[in-house]
Amino acid sequence: MLTGKNILLGISGGIAAYKTPQLVRLLKKSGADVQVLATESAVRFVSELSLSTVSGRPVLTDIFSADGNGHDNARTMHITLGEWADALVIAPATANTLAKLAAGMCDDMLSLCFLTLRPGKPVLVAPAMDGHMYDSPSVQRNLAMLKAQGCRMMEPESGSLASGQCGLGRMPEPETIFEALTEMLASPEASALCGKTVIVTAGPTREKIDDVRFLSNYSSGKMGFAIAAEAARRGATVRLVTGPVSLPTPPGVERLDVESAVEMLDAAQPFFDACDLFIGAAAVADYRPETPAEGKIKKNDAEMEIRLVRNPDILATFATGRKPGQLAVGFALETAGGLDYARKKLVDKQLDLVAFNIYDGRTTGFEVDTNALTLLARDGNVTELPLLSKEEAAGKLLDAIEPLLRR
Ligand code: CTP
Repeated sequence: MLTGKNILLGISGGIAAYKTPQLVRLLKKSGADVQVLATESAVRFVSELSLSTVSGRPVLTDIFSADGNGHDNARTMHITLGEWADALVIAPATANTLAKLAAGMCDDMLSLCFLTLRPGKPVLVAPAMDGHMYDSPSVQRNLAMLKAQGCRMMEPESGSLASGQCGLGRMPEPETIFEALTEMLASPEASALCGKTVIVTAGPTREKIDDVRFLSNYSSGKMGFAIAAEAARRGATVRLVTGPVSLPTPPGVERLDVESAVEMLDAAQPFFDACDLFIGAAAVADYRPETPAEGKIKKNDAEMEIRLVRNPDILATFATGRKPGQLAVGFALETAGGLDYARKKLVDKQLDLVAFNIYDGRTTGFEVDTNALTLLARDGNVTELPLLSKEEAAGKLLDAIEPLLRR
């Protein structure tokens, strides 16, 4: 199943490390070449000799360790490995290693290769630690950051822990990790997005009132960033045109930062011709102040008026001017009114698909991590998705777009 695949297996220092030779065996048996990257703590839990014997390669731990493997010399081996690998699996991932990866620190071969891995290559992480540690805000923050970067997180399993307690925190069994990796490696080849060029707009826009004030909305950009990350993971070339948000750029994605709707159109338009798919996930302000004031407007009267003018519609500009074969997908966020508004948007803006979501401000809408989408296709097909994480919702949206790209 994994014939010809090169897998980096990162092992950090938790008791579950003793199970990793079994994971190496499964990977090798299915035809993969495996390079183990173990932290110094990991090799206190599992012997280097076992790992090098089952993998057929020396275990790499220290950045400066000599290379007996004929890869390259030790100084550049991390770069060679980043190119060589088709995937990186980190199992078990301890709290310490998660923190290092989230912060971009790189003081051992595992954390270093995490940075040199080529954009878009799958990273599968199996955290394992005591349940209280797993639930701590710091670990949860690091997990969320890595997830936002496109890493696939496996849920730890429940059972008896090394502490003698029972609870969440066990590393999934090697067979489960192996299956998750096989699935991840299978999807990019099957994806219709592989080799396609995609533009995603995300986040809010800011429309200047004067030099210190603006009109905007609460969009966090999370949905658009999740779509961009997933499209890149499936092998697309992705340009993400985003309003001001505080999210890390997903791996392998080209990011263009803008402020206003006019800037968003100006940044995206040069790429319209060459793109196969445009996904408008940005919450673009429909209006902007007609003439932003220079400096700071002083308060004078009890009331003031700001004259607003319509902004260009970026999605509609793309959709109405596109060439045959190019796809246009939009979002419709409604507080009420249901599917009919979304359907009208599909027709008015000449879209192929609209992702409709009701804003409830708690589980769906801006700044939250979940979303419940209903997908309306031009052919009348309606797919109602359950409440999902924005990453999962992005996956389902792209699953629905892929058959349209194949036509
Ligand atoms: N959109 C855009 N440019 C705009 C406005 C919206 O690209 N100037 C895109 C959004 O990214 C989204 C879709 O169009 O994909 C939303 O359509 P829109 O008509 O703006 O939705 P609402 O603002 O919710 O519509 P209305 O105000 O009419 O309810």
